[in-house]
Amino acid sequence: MSKKVYIETYGCQMNLADTEIVLGTLNKIDYSPTNDPNEADLILVNTCSVRENAEQRVFGRLSLLKRYKKNNPNVLIGVLGCMAERLKKDLIEKEKAVDLIVGPDEYRNLPQYIEEAHNGGKGIGVRLSRVETYEDIIPYREEGISAWISIMRGCDKFCSFCIVPFTRGRERSRKLESIINEINSLSERGFKEVTLLGQNVNCYKDGEYDFADLLSACAKVDPEMRIRFTTSHPQDISLKLLETISSHHNICKYLHLPVQSGSNRILELMNRNYTIEHYLNIIEQAKKLIPNLALTTDIIVGFPTETFEDHIMTIEVMQKVRYDGAYMFIYSPREGTKSYKMKDDAPYEIKNKRLNEIIDLQNKISLEINSTLVGKEEIVLIEGDSKKSDKYFSGKTDSNKVVVMPKIEDVKIGEYVKVKINRATSATLFGDIVEKKLSLSQTLAKTA
Ligand code: SAH
Ligand code: SF4
Ligand code: F3S
Repeated sequence: MSKKVYIETYGCQMNLADTEIVLGTLNKIDYSPTNDPNEADLILVNTCSVRENAEQRVFGRLSLLKRYKKNNPNVLIGVLGCMAERLKKDLIEKEKAVDLIVGPDEYRNLPQYIEEAHNGGKGIGVRLSRVETYEDIIPYREEGISAWISIMRGCDKFCSFCIVPFTRGRERSRKLESIINEINSLSERGFKEVTLLGQNVNCYKDGEYDFADLLSACAKVDPEMRIRFTTSHPQDISLKLLETISSHHNICKYLHLPVQSGSNRILELMNRNYTIEHYLNIIEQAKKLIPNLALTTDIIVGFPTETFEDHIMTIEVMQKVRYDGAYMFIYSPREGTKSYKMKDDAPYEIKNKRLNEIIDLQNKISLEINSTLVGKEEIVLIEGDSKKSDKYFSGKTDSNKVVVMPKIEDVKIGEYVKVKINRATSATLFGDIVEKKLSLSQTLAKTA
């Protein structure tokens, strides 16, 4: 009889994609996934180290999950992902119930570590690799509409605040051919959207192929399939990339381009390798080349030495760019990073006040942008039932905005529909389906 694995995933989309690799690997040794920890033989937590509170949350979960081991001593508990890599053996000292500690480049060896834990030891695998991309492992995916595909791993940027280069190791790209093959098989299974993932996808390189080459190859696989990608780094956005996005109807006109701060002095301390002038220049070019481009960003407030003036510069950038959305964080010192040695000098109240200011500003801008869509028609890919009611569908626009609409007869999940927007909040659009069974290629060719 097959054994059961229960897994919780924290952190970024790369972790979500890795969880599918882990389940794919475990499938080979006869583990099938379950949503109920009560029936699990193996409980895994795929973790994130990016900020202190991400780690706190996982410690909170671990102390609850160890109850299942009390009920059934044969259950194994494992920590995967970035915390496993960062804390290594120290994790067991903190959480004695943990049997397995396996970092992001060692998932291939999970069966061996599980065996070691079953034999009464601890299974610990935290070596980083310069070559591992898991390109030969078939990720375990439920049937669905939208899939993540890791196209590269690691990061070589070493932004001074960031733990990722330490938990994920050196940057390496997967072969273009293996990515195209995977998209092909997803298309055959009925998937309608793929998101290409990497900490810095613009640095993708496979021999002579760069990221723009990869994107256009992906776009050609299936004209009815949307292609998204994240994250891009402002230092490596090329004209060729912007032109590629603009010239394929099925590459979504959406760019997530983390700015982090509006102050050149802070950007330099962050080791971001661009100036705000360069950043704004890219945004201007991108908006020119790609009409209706949606933009989102990441911002950190309270980086060491950040003054009120620096903070105002960040606000000015937000006002200039007018992002559709932003992920905003309070700086969290991470041991081992370069900025950890700098004094975390802003009091918490100030950081929190700055965070709330930029959140309020962003909400206002998002609402203003979304309100301009009321009365307009948008092409929406229906992804499933809305969170609140099964009488409504939820889907996304090309610009990655969530749209909620009442269900109508003869419309299915995975279909493109035209929706007339009648209401907007800062986070969601609401509307009615006015045209169904659309072909993405034909519809977009018509509107172009
Ligand atoms: N590779 C991506 C994302 C990395 S992590 C990029 O470069 O954009 C996602 C976001 O978390 C970062 O963009 C940054 O805004 C934030 N972040 C990373 N380290 C942080 C820290 N120590 N404190 C607060 N926010 C952090
Ligand atoms: Fe971290 Fe910078 Fe790499 Fe992004 S680019 S993962 S912020 S080091
Ligand atoms: Fe977190 Fe690791 Fe992703 S630190 S953000 S899970 S790369």
